Amino acid sequence: MSYNYNVYRNLSTQEVIQKFEPYTFPSFRQKSKVRNLKEPFFVVEATYNGEKVGLAVLELLHNQPHSLMKILSLWVKEEHRRRGIASQILRVAEKIALNNQINYLNIIFQNNWESFKWMPTLLQKLAWNKPEKRTILVKLAYKQVCDLPWFQIKDFPANFYVTKWVELTETELNYIKRKKVSENWYPDELSPFQLPDLLVAEGSFVLRYNEKIVGWIIIHKIGEQQVQVTSYFVDKDYRGTKASIALIVQAVEKIVKQNLSKEFIFMVSADNKEMLSLSKKIAGEHNTGAFTEVWVGQKWLQGQI
Ligand SMILES: CC(C)(COP(=O)(O)OP(=O)(O)OC[C@H]1O[C@@H](n2cnc3c(N)ncnc32)[C@H](O)[C@@H]1OP(=O)(O)O)[C@@H](O)C(=O)NCCC(=O)NCCS
Repeated sequence: MSYNYNVYRNLSTQEVIQKFEPYTFPSFRQKSKVRNLKEPFFVVEATYNGEKVGLAVLELLHNQPHSLMKILSLWVKEEHRRRGIASQILRVAEKIALNNQINYLNIIFQNNWESFKWMPTLLQKLAWNKPEKRTILVKLAYKQVCDLPWFQIKDFPANFYVTKWVELTETELNYIKRKKVSENWYPDELSPFQLPDLLVAEGSFVLRYNEKIVGWIIIHKIGEQQVQVTSYFVDKDYRGTKASIALIVQAVEKIVKQNLSKEFIFMVSADNKEMLSLSKKIAGEHNTGAFTEVWVGQKWLQGQI
């Protein structure tokens, strides 16, 4: 008996969860809760005697100038591994991409997954580019940081203070949006306007200097006892003042006091040296377990510059 490969098209988020969630890694349901995913999805499935033994969920993003297919999850049942199933699923995904005018494919994996040991070889055999480290995920428990020296910085320097994000007026929100358009004020991934439904109002603040908006910390609830610092930004003219540290302390304390979470996650771009060294300081020098590397593999099909 050999393996069969089936392709499902035009699936909504709910359909993928209902039919395929147990066969997704990382969990599609969890991902759909914390990210704005683009419907409809494709699913490539491998079966053996009618049983699902391998699966990938694909997201197609027709962005300009390059359209992208993200392999959101890739999984093969343990007893059927090392038989070329994942490789075949990725070949099928590539065909779907070509038929849909996609320029390149990507897949994300983490160094705390066992498969981190073989994902680069698996991709290399399918002529993907060498994977690159893209992001560092920092996971902090309140009890690990509350006694560290930086956490004692609770007072804001002169003329700095915070107000709640949810209390911003329409005019102030427009000020932030206009500044992004006119001078690309903050990187796209630090947009404070992401995932409004998950916003933790009690822990998200705007940093002000004499009333002027100079930064923010935006926190989202991503699990029962887990929050994510999705956007933490301070205008470059106001960095190095300790106001940014007081801003984090304020947000963390408010969240812990209100029993919303005791665990905090935030992501730092692997090339953002400034934020990486700040994260090391925040996590504590010996807290290496707090850091997870997120890697990305890519394959260009057409139109690479
Ligand atoms: C990653 C995963 C999908 C690979 O599935 P698979 O069907 O076993 O992979 P393939 O058989 O196509 O492997 C292709 C090549 O990758 C490498 N490889 C795969 N698994 C390996 C392992 N356990 N040890 C060493 N190399 C391995 C080998 O070079 C292999 O070729 P070979 O068997 O001819 O030597 C599977 O291990 C899995 O489901 N892991 C758990 C979920 C996960 O981590 N998914 C990754 C999400 S990005």
